[in-house]
Amino acid sequence: MVVSETLRMYPPLGFLNRMATKNYKVPKYDLVIEEGTPVYISILGLHYDAEYFPNPDIFDPERFKKRNKRKRPSGVYLPFGEGSHECIGRRFGLIQIKLTLLMILSKYEVESCAKTSVKIDPREPMSLPLNGVLYLNVRKLNTNAI
Ligand code: HEM
Repeated sequence: MVVSETLRMYPPLGFLNRMATKNYKVPKYDLVIEEGTPVYISILGLHYDAEYFPNPDIFDPERFKKRNKRKRPSGVYLPFGEGSHECIGRRFGLIQIKLTLLMILSKYEVESCAKTSVKIDPREPMSLPLNGVLYLNVRKLNTNAI
């Protein structure tokens, strides 16, 4: 739940890109997306839409409890994309994240500090902290964990 909520607020990719393979009439709108038109789908826009994620600026892992997940329509949470080009490394990526956290947190205590800023730089195609730096306080734990 914590990892899912982190990927909601800080998806590594801020948008998906596609290209229309045929003319497409957008339902309920007077709009036809013509064949060959590039289409950008804002992951950040969906992940911060209060209709699907109330109080979107609040970090709340409870959003990913099974019963809360069921209330959301499909296609509004897209950290790994969707459809035939969905991330091929999804499971591998999630295992890497969990293992890395386990290895760090078994040896170190990690806290935010006065200089910590988790604001995303909207100019970057990949989500990065502003100025490219994430300051944290890291303290080695007195433990023999591997
Ligand atoms: C937390 C980790 C990761 C995130 C959030 C992530 C996210 C994404 C996203 C958003 C896409 C675009 C999907 C779309 O257009 O619908 C993508 C595609 C892709 N990802 Fe990942 N990814 C992650 C880890 C990985 C890893 C570990 C690998 C490989 C070992 C990988 C390989 C790929 C490949 C090959 C594609 C292109 C798939 C295609 O176009 O058919 N990703 N990923």
